[in-house]
Amino acid sequence: MPIYSYPAPCAPDYKKPKSVEDCLPQARRLVRKMAPYEKPRFGVAPRMFVREGARILIVTLPDQDKYVAEAMVRALKEQGATHVDFIFPKDLVGRDPEITSVEDGWKEAELMEGGKASGTFTDLMTGLGLTTATAKYLDDHPGYSMVFIDVAGGNARRGLLQHADKFYGFWPFNTWEWFLSRGHTFPLEVWDEFERRAVEPLARCSQVRITDPEGTYLEFSLSPDDAYRWHAHALLHGHLFMNPLMATCGETREPRGEDIETPPVFQRASGVLAGTSNHCGFFPRIEVYFEEDRVVEVRGGGKYGDAIRENIDKFKNIQWPGYPGKGLFWFCDTALCTSVGVHRRKCDMFKSYWIYPNLPERTRGGVFHLGFGSRSYRDEKTFAAYAEKTGAPRGHIHVHNYFATYEVKIRGTEYWHKIVDKGWITALSDSGIRALAAKYSVPDELLKYDWIPPLPGVNTAGDYFKDYAPNPVAYLKKRLKAGEPI
Ligand SMILES: [Fe+2]
Repeated sequence: MPIYSYPAPCAPDYKKPKSVEDCLPQARRLVRKMAPYEKPRFGVAPRMFVREGARILIVTLPDQDKYVAEAMVRALKEQGATHVDFIFPKDLVGRDPEITSVEDGWKEAELMEGGKASGTFTDLMTGLGLTTATAKYLDDHPGYSMVFIDVAGGNARRGLLQHADKFYGFWPFNTWEWFLSRGHTFPLEVWDEFERRAVEPLARCSQVRITDPEGTYLEFSLSPDDAYRWHAHALLHGHLFMNPLMATCGETREPRGEDIETPPVFQRASGVLAGTSNHCGFFPRIEVYFEEDRVVEVRGGGKYGDAIRENIDKFKNIQWPGYPGKGLFWFCDTALCTSVGVHRRKCDMFKSYWIYPNLPERTRGGVFHLGFGSRSYRDEKTFAAYAEKTGAPRGHIHVHNYFATYEVKIRGTEYWHKIVDKGWITALSDSGIRALAAKYSVPDELLKYDWIPPLPGVNTAGDYFKDYAPNPVAYLKKRLKAGEPI
């Protein structure tokens, strides 16, 4: 029997609820009353903190599980909400979202063309402009004090325009499987502390190296000043900014930072990003080559690769405002999500209402999503006007890596510290974190991944290049049929 140096595949086995009562214990764990002085906190991790007397509007999808919805209404009211209403895309924009499947990973490139790519778009959930429509709905229904919507980072709040202050968080609980995930109820005290420890070495690093068994090898160096700036903006709860450009461009900060006049840190990364999945789903293995942050070549990737190659060529002469050179695609995303107990969702992976049906898998701690395209800084209007003038698509697209090792060289030493080791966030093994975890549960139980994907030849039997890389979905379907974890 072969021995693998990566952890074996596993996945949780949540059972579909058959009643509201089946959902109530989890609903009660997810909801908490806020103290009057408390501010809402956003991040990838969805918890529902509510104020006494809240009138809540929840923007959800046509496949909303009715037992989950009812249980959450009860739990919210137990914690002081007076009204909880659900609203569907049909009520807001007159139609249902399109149905998507993880079989169409290549569509992420198309979303960039359609102006719906990450970084530019306020409704990552459906692509129907639900945030703007919700803002209009709130104009006509001023009684609501809290809105839960979407899964799309700070953009959701911004998209609510004049009602941004009513945004209190996300609502990804349309499906029972996601609702039941233990990842959402991970103790925040432990979560905050291990995230802080995970990003702490960034302030002290002079070099970064990212490797992954699917073939990624990326490197860059940093000056002390750039490292300090990066560290200062690296921590977004649930979604750490492990790429200096994404952390310092200000695009992800609200308001857009007092130092927006300072150019962001272009990390000048070189190497290759390789993988088989993105936010939309899966595709034949792709290799994206970078030279000093610019994408210079793309190999493989099937239709996804074709679309990217076409755009590289078509826009080879553009130069984004403030960017160091020409070209459409720049290395602008290396996000490390930190939700320990979540998993790849199976219940709707082949029939989803999200335009990004593969988004849930990337929220698990240790999974990286790396991206290329553009991010604006300084004057957003100038950036938008340039895109308009040249017809160049904005935003960025991704490749996920499941077993990455992310190392930083500590300045003035020869010591390389692994922030993530083969997909494992090493801060989770710190004795201080384990001691803190013991306050809530058995550390080994709390601080473990419930889901580890199968990669043949890497952590399970098979040949990666033969059995998986050409058609990942076919492999996953075979395992699903055999009742094996995916
Ligand atoms: Fe991204």
